[in-house]
Amino acid sequence: MFYDTHAHLNAEQFKDNLEEIVKEAYASGVTYINVVGFNRQTNFLAQEIAAKYDNLYPTAGLHPNDVNDFTEEDLVTLEEYVKKEVTVGIGECGLDYYWYKDNKDKQKAFFIAQIELARKYKKPLVIHVRDAFQDTYDIIETEMKKGAFTGVMHCFSGSPEMALRFLNLGLYISLGGPVTFKNAVAPKEVAKIVPLDKLLIETDCPYLAPHPHRGKQNKPSYLPLIAQSIAEIKGISVEEVAKHTTLNAKRLFLQQF
Ligand code: NI
Repeated sequence: MFYDTHAHLNAEQFKDNLEEIVKEAYASGVTYINVVGFNRQTNFLAQEIAAKYDNLYPTAGLHPNDVNDFTEEDLVTLEEYVKKEVTVGIGECGLDYYWYKDNKDKQKAFFIAQIELARKYKKPLVIHVRDAFQDTYDIIETEMKKGAFTGVMHCFSGSPEMALRFLNLGLYISLGGPVTFKNAVAPKEVAKIVPLDKLLIETDCPYLAPHPHRGKQNKPSYLPLIAQSIAEIKGISVEEVAKHTTLNAKRLFLQQF
């Protein structure tokens, strides 16, 4: 039994075949799926889709790549979603300096606002970081001193040293398709060092399809390929990876165990 902690079933790409994609996921052992929102439209759709199928859970968040479009009003709408019992996490949120470097202050402000919601509603953050690891770390470390919160570093692309620093803050590390890529060094190193009780897995579909589907449209039923790669790297069985990552995800998002 697998838990895909990060799937964008609310993306345009799944509009016409969602039913089939979800059935395929169940059939491949992917029993639980978080449908991750990232802006006004996808937060709304995450709620709609998750309500339709068993064991699908919505998150709601404001993604750093869309931050130029966001206003205070988006934070008000976001809080309405976060308040709902069905919403299992806040995000994607975070910092991304790969696409935008000229709006760092606004990115930081929206990230901190979402950390405040995580604290207020005791829900985990789904954190996206690209080319902004130090700033992200500094914000989380500073904010944690003001009051505890938790979360996951989604599709972690940083170094093993950085992973250890986030683990030391109590955060989970999630790995996706890149861990299966032949030429990917860092994600494999990270897979080696993340303890089994802090590891999550995800597809981040429709993006980042794992080997041998690299470059194609990703979907939750590919998740076992990611678990298989991690199992090989860690020298354990895929069942062990499935068991631990599912327990971890249930602990973090469903507040079970
Ligand atoms: Ni994503």
